[in-house]
Order: sequence, then C-alpha cells, then structure tokens
Amino acid sequence: MAVTLAFDVYGTLIDTHGVIAALEKYVGDKATEFSATWRDKQLEYSFRRGLMQNYENFAHCTRNALDYTSAYYKTALGQNDKEALLDVYKVLPAFDDVKEGLARAQNSGFRMFAFSNGSAEAVEMLLNNSGIREFFMGVVSVDEMKSYKPNPAVYSHFLRRAGAVGSEAWLISSNSFDVIGAVSSGMRAAWVKRSADAVFDPWGIEPTVTVHSLLNLTEQVIQERKKSESSLS
Ligand code: LAC
Repeated sequence: MAVTLAFDVYGTLIDTHGVIAALEKYVGDKATEFSATWRDKQLEYSFRRGLMQNYENFAHCTRNALDYTSAYYKTALGQNDKEALLDVYKVLPAFDDVKEGLARAQNSGFRMFAFSNGSAEAVEMLLNNSGIREFFMGVVSVDEMKSYKPNPAVYSHFLRRAGAVGSEAWLISSNSFDVIGAVSSGMRAAWVKRSADAVFDPWGIEPTVTVHSLLNLTEQVIQERKKSESSLS
C-alpha cells in the first residue's frame, strides 16, 4: 500500500509568524510577542470550541484571538487595521524548505494531502498563493467534522477521506499537540522541529521520527518504513 502523508498547514507548511512585518507598523517592537500570543490564543480557542462543542470555523478563532491580543497589549488597533491584518493572514508565506521538501516527497510516490484546522477554502487560498497546491491530491479540513485537532474523530475522518489506514499514513506537523493527537489515533507522525529551541510536549507519546526540515522528510519516512517492514518479516 502506498504511503499517505497528511501535511499540517498553519505552522508547518505556512509560517504564521509571516504576519510580523505587517504587525510592526502597528505595534513596533512588540510585533514578535504579539504574533506569538495571537497564535497561542487562536489555538486555545480552537481547543476550547472543540471541547465545548461550540464550533465556529478557524478564521473565527483567528479573529477572536486578534481581538483578545489587541486588548491584552492595549493597542490602538481599529477595525480597519484588524481587517488588514486578517487579510495578511490569508496570504501568509510558506517556509523556505517547503517547496523542495514537497517535490522530493512527490518524487517518491507518496500520496500527499493538506490536513488542517483551517477551512478548505482558506487552505486552498494559502496553498495556491504560495505555489504549492499542485503537490497535493486534496485538502481535508476539520470543518467537515465541525471539530478541531486533536479530537481523534478528525484524524479518523482524514483516514476515511484519504482512503488510508493509520499504519501507512503519516501526519507531518510542527505542532506537537497535532503529532500526539495523530499517534494516539494510530497514525505515524513526523515532528518538524525547525527551531533548536522547540520543545516537544513531555506526555510520553513520541513522534515516529523528528526532522529538522522538510528536506529530510522523505528519506526518514522511507528509512522508518524499511525498519518496520524488516521487523515484521
Ligand atoms: C492546522 C493548525 C494546527 O493547520 O495550525 O491544522
């Protein structure tokens, strides 16, 4: 059976901190900190909406998180400024290693999907804008389940939609909560640790492999697969 790869989007393919340059105009040297709080709150809101079964789409979480962060830092951001920042969020850039990393994975015959908390429409726009849409067989969004990662139901949904089984399907993500969610749901997972400072959540549930860049992904997935095949024979 061919290997299926589910690529997380925000934070893995697409750099959510790409909004920092735009933020500098409004919040000056607080831009990096502001961007980190905005991202943390966005994820927190998605987790809470999942738990509360009070679903609104990811763009809604992003918008609420921007309102929170703006109030927290006591900024003077007006509604038009916020709309401008949310527009930047729709066209965030891909990380530098993404195009080449995806091309290598595609050349190895992997079946590739984007799998995101973002709506299919938002993800299509991001992938098209950064010129990487062509690498994917499809986009699978949690929106189809009205819940969020790491609800096990959304990983099962991915497998059904992709026509894959967990033992031959890998989640590729920089987000450790996502990696832990996928492994707990029977998938394999590669943690993309681009920064030496990134810390994996110490839950005792480890990624199948850790890669420092998408450029190393293909060879590590192939290596791991050979290892598990030889341990079966
Ligand atoms: C996503 C979130 C995890 O793209 O950022 O699914």
